[in-house]
Amino acid sequence: MNELKITAKIKVCTYDELNISEKKLIDSAKKAVYTSYAPYSRFRVGVAVELENGQIITGSNQENAAFPSGLCAERTALFYANAQFPDDAVEKISIAAFTKGDFSEEPITPCGACRQVIMEVQNRFNHPVRLLLYGKSKIYVIDTIEAILPLSFKLADDK
Ligand code: THU
Repeated sequence: MNELKITAKIKVCTYDELNISEKKLIDSAKKAVYTSYAPYSRFRVGVAVELENGQIITGSNQENAAFPSGLCAERTALFYANAQFPDDAVEKISIAAFTKGDFSEEPITPCGACRQVIMEVQNRFNHPVRLLLYGKSKIYVIDTIEAILPLSFKLADDK
């Protein structure tokens, strides 16, 4: 039997090592946590999306008493960005999380459903989406969503 080994390329850096536009995107994601509506989990997530037209769109998680009706910050921001600017590719997405009075020590990584949505955006525009995942101790920089969603679902080619 053969074995398929899957590896992920993730750069680990500090805030100071980022360039000005990346710092700005992280700052925007951190600011967006304060717009989160998370009375149930008290876990606030902020996202900033940079489009190819230079626009920065922010979003945050929006919860609901009927739990599945809420939405993660990533999808809130991406769906809004795509609804407002349907022709503009997404260049980068930055994510930050705030809970128990502070930003998370470790970088926040998107949930599976959000990874699938980021993959859709990347495929839709045929343009890699760069991820900047913020943590107080370190930041993960990932050049393409494929790195953290290997073997992703794609509609079968039924030719
Ligand atoms: N959440 C996000 O907004 N993004 C993620 O990638 C993971 C989880 C939200 C959903 C829910 O409102 C809260 O965090 C706790 O799960």
